[in-house]
Amino acid sequence: MNPILARRSIRRFAPRPLEEEDLSALLAAALAAPSAHNQRPWHFVVSTRKDRLEEIPAFHPYSSMMRTAAAAVLVCGEPASKDDDFLPQDLAAATENLLVAATARGIGSCWLGVYPKESLIEGCRRWAHLPQTVIPFALVALGWPEETKAPHPEEPDPSRIHRETWER
Ligand SMILES: Cc1cc2nc3c(=O)[nH]c(=O)nc-3n(C[C@H](O)[C@H](O)[C@H](O)COP(=O)(O)O)c2cc1C
Repeated sequence: MNPILARRSIRRFAPRPLEEEDLSALLAAALAAPSAHNQRPWHFVVSTRKDRLEEIPAFHPYSSMMRTAAAAVLVCGEPASKDDDFLPQDLAAATENLLVAATARGIGSCWLGVYPKESLIEGCRRWAHLPQTVIPFALVALGWPEETKAPHPEEPDPSRIHRETWER
């Protein structure tokens, strides 16, 4: 099945580690994302240590799935300049690529929002020892799924599609 259509947020994981090869493939997909002016501002902090994953719910209120996840990827960005306005879009594209690549390999994933919430940004900064120049954007929980979810409907909701102009 097309992994873009099959992707769902998975929050229950089996107690089985991910292979390094799987993590590398997911990061390669993230690195293949488009970015404004091809700045490629991303960095990824990859964590597979259970004690480190269990620290996340202490600063992120919607991250209890990290207690069973096999890995967390903190997607970060380092702005090239003060007016690097497209940083969030670049990092969102990388994050989505990571999720879709995970689905393609049968790996469950969940996107946890961080940026632009100041308390979550600070929590991630402390957790990953980020320099002040680096912005934490999202956490991704990864692991072998212990739940299955049906894909979202394939047919686009016609009320959301506008042809040529808003009035259609
Ligand atoms: C920016 C963003 C932030 C999100 N933050 C969280 C989060 O903190 N915790 C969580 O469990 N899911 C989080 N999600 C996942 C959404 O809840 C999920 O994508 C949505 O309910 C649709 O479900 P689906 O991913 O299965 O299609 C986030 C998703 C996005 C795009």
